[in-house]
Amino acid sequence: MDQAIAQLPLTRDLLARLDVEDPLGHFRERFHLPEGLIYLDGNSLGALPKTAPARLAEVAEREWGEHLIGGWRKDGWMTYPERLGNKIARLIGAQAGEIIAVDTTSLNLFKILAASLALKPTRRTILSDTGNFPTDLYMAQGLIELLGRRHRLKLVEPKEIEAAIDDDTVLVMLTHVDYRSGRIHDMERITRAAQAKGAIMLWDLCHSAGAVPVNLTRAGADFAVGCGYKYLNGGPGAPAFIYVAQRHHDRTSQPLTGWLGHADPFAFAAEYRPAPGILHYKCSTPSILALAPLECGVDIMLEAGMPALRQKSMALGDLFIRLVAERLNGRGFRPACPLAAEERGSQVSFHHDDGYAIMQALIERRVVGDFRAPDIMRFGLTPAYVRYVDVWDAVQILAQIMDSRAYDKPEFKQRASVT
Ligand SMILES: Cc1ncc(COP(=O)(O)O)c(C=O)c1O
Repeated sequence: MDQAIAQLPLTRDLLARLDVEDPLGHFRERFHLPEGLIYLDGNSLGALPKTAPARLAEVAEREWGEHLIGGWRKDGWMTYPERLGNKIARLIGAQAGEIIAVDTTSLNLFKILAASLALKPTRRTILSDTGNFPTDLYMAQGLIELLGRRHRLKLVEPKEIEAAIDDDTVLVMLTHVDYRSGRIHDMERITRAAQAKGAIMLWDLCHSAGAVPVNLTRAGADFAVGCGYKYLNGGPGAPAFIYVAQRHHDRTSQPLTGWLGHADPFAFAAEYRPAPGILHYKCSTPSILALAPLECGVDIMLEAGMPALRQKSMALGDLFIRLVAERLNGRGFRPACPLAAEERGSQVSFHHDDGYAIMQALIERRVVGDFRAPDIMRFGLTPAYVRYVDVWDAVQILAQIMDSRAYDKPEFKQRASVT
């Protein structure tokens, strides 16, 4: 498919034909997408799976409404984090029993950071890169404060990570797909490099799960986290997931020792005793109403399959970059993402001095992407529901906005609290 795009002169008709032939084309019908909206922000919040409202109603009305407290056993609520974790495991190359869907990405990061520092008490450096997402860095900073500033967080340029790992590195903490540039870190190589120096490897998969193929087992990763609301389409504030390689299950401990991570919560013992396996990475009562739509999103991704999703995602990205180069040459757009598809996640991004205002003008014209300071326009290309014609139309509208300078309005320059 991407070869066809690369060789033929592009027209909207050609792209419409590619959409008809697209083996993933019918998955768009599985999502609720407002009429006339070109939604290129699935890397912030995925679209609503059409199965989700009915599943939510079922959980609310039948399970909660009819079974009340009985739901914890009858409807399997108590083990929902493990069951859904096992489904997510199939998407990112983990084994059953290595993932649970719980809490938030930030909280799961905290658990892993603390567990890792305790595993290697003589080492003092947490290593990350300057492109990492702020919450990853903030959680590390908070823990360092809590532990009396005995550790330090060292940030280097993404390309310098491997060279910066040394005998003092406790943990290498990286986001696999950079949230701004979309650049993919080489998971296998960096994990090997970290472990060769005796360090622990933690991957943040927020922009990877459901977007790019990941194989945590093959990479030999120690820990990973990821969110449910982006490419897993689990809904706003969906539960996150945490991965702990089996070899670390019974030799690590995490500090958020809530009662549901206890070996026998209903013994109501005064002393904490960790549950076996990954279960002591649980903390609190699972959010059943939030897990239900997440499962709907994960089921769709499993059905579509990562190889097909990846192939289309790369083709959409190549198309976007090519159209911007052809239609917007000399208009101040500089790629912020790798041009080579295999180095890029499921998004494209561009620097532009007027990026914020241009994005507001696009949103007004019903093309939704987002903006990341200082000057990056991001476009998420969720392959399960974005069509080739959507990319064509989005770039056409962008070109019209640039031609007419429609972005040059005071109201588009006023920064909102959510960008
Ligand atoms: C790489 C990455 N990590 C973490 C988060 C957010 O974490 P939380 O789910 O705790 O809000 C995001 C949100 O966009 C992200 O992109």
